[in-house]
Amino acid sequence: MAQLPLFLDSEKLRCLVIGGGDVAARKLATLIERGVTTRIVTVEANQQIAKLASEQGIAIELRSFALHDLADVNLVIAATNDRELNQQIAAACAARAILVNVVDDFELSTAIFPSIIDRSPVLVAVSTGGRSPTLARRIKTQLETHLSGGLGRVADFLFDKRREFGGIRSRRTWDAVLDSTIPDLLERGEVAAADEQFASIHGEQASTHGFVSLVGAGPGDPELLTLKAARCIDRADVLYYDNLVSQEVLARVRKDADLVYVGKKRKFAGIRQEEINQLLLASALEGKRVVRLKGGDPFMFGRGGEEIESLIRERIPFEVVPGITAALGCAAYAGIPLTHRDYAQSVRFVTGHLKSGEIHLDWPELAKPDQTLVVYMGLANLELFTRNLVEHGLTPQTPIAIVSRGTFPDQQVVKTTIDAVEGMSSLRTLVSPTTAIIGGVVGFSDRLEAKPKN
Ligand SMILES: C[S@@+](CC[C@H](N)C(=O)[O-])C[C@H]1O[C@@H](n2cnc3c(N)ncnc32)[C@H](O)[C@@H]1O
Repeated sequence: MAQLPLFLDSEKLRCLVIGGGDVAARKLATLIERGVTTRIVTVEANQQIAKLASEQGIAIELRSFALHDLADVNLVIAATNDRELNQQIAAACAARAILVNVVDDFELSTAIFPSIIDRSPVLVAVSTGGRSPTLARRIKTQLETHLSGGLGRVADFLFDKRREFGGIRSRRTWDAVLDSTIPDLLERGEVAAADEQFASIHGEQASTHGFVSLVGAGPGDPELLTLKAARCIDRADVLYYDNLVSQEVLARVRKDADLVYVGKKRKFAGIRQEEINQLLLASALEGKRVVRLKGGDPFMFGRGGEEIESLIRERIPFEVVPGITAALGCAAYAGIPLTHRDYAQSVRFVTGHLKSGEIHLDWPELAKPDQTLVVYMGLANLELFTRNLVEHGLTPQTPIAIVSRGTFPDQQVVKTTIDAVEGMSSLRTLVSPTTAIIGGVVGFSDRLEAKPKN
């Protein structure tokens, strides 16, 4: 069955439990806990269910199920150990459009009981679509560790404040409350201190402009996104992104946020940096929470510095959230340590991008041994790059690795030596983006089998 997650008003439910064994008792316990009005019909009742029912003043009707039992109910739990009878009950419920849960029979059921994490009034329900109760329990345990015991108090606090300050519409205020120590205070029962802190946050937020987060999205694998980056993405009103941000990362963006492409491909080929800066400014001045999402790290060959300059000029509050830069992602996923006591005592990140048709780099420095060079944006000019290194004295047999689409599932790594790069046909078929790593560490990496699992 395809599933529609739905929470029902337990006070409006009238439930019939058919069966008197352990499973029926467990369901009855859940129904009682949730305040559902329940009747029980069973030919036999075990001690557990009899005790539960008598504690709650529920009379057990000791007899066989009859169709008239369905007259005034809107939920049925079929928990008999007779599959044929369960099937009949399910069919009778279907004919009357009554929700039915047939215990341990997902196919016959029209409603199932999910695994629940209860932080009332907050409830988190987990279903594996009937595939595996063990997996559902495992997910529940994992979630439990992330959800503080005081979550219900936090929900009540937010609810009261929303009623009290009906005018606060901005999600920013509520985010600021949740990011403050208010949840901890509430967990400890320090309601007055929480109120005081709320008042100061409310005052501050009312007078602020928008906020810009310059966020590094990492090289591609969405699991390389930092927790902070994920939180920024989750909270943004508007996100500006470009080519290097992977689809998997973009898939995390909330459906109601504006996602704006400002890369240099397609119709944006001519978009200038200044225009991007203006877009960021304009959104921030509208009071929005803006995220500028950039591949890798925003300050690594990413023009992040230019983007914050205009924010500083206009006094727009901002933050920079670092990301895993391509050099680190590519090296790790290709099994290349960027430094190693025997091969490289330093590492240089350089760009192979041409400026006015030339690469302006300090070649004698780059050609020195015992270091690792990482070349960004260099595939088109790699022949020129390696030729220059050899001309300035770097050993022609120095190993080089060219990593294409590093950290993506289709990552490719081509290894050779710098003197063999010229005319190498396999480089022409590599898909961008690519990063080259040059130095003895590349040779060392041949000995490493290990590669982080995707
Ligand atoms: C404009 S720079 C941006 C660098 C980015 N800010 C960073 O920190 O990784 C673009 C270059 O980064 C490198 N790059 C980015 N993502 C990559 C990836 N997944 N695999 C290989 N190289 C990548 C390529 O050299 C590409 O030409």
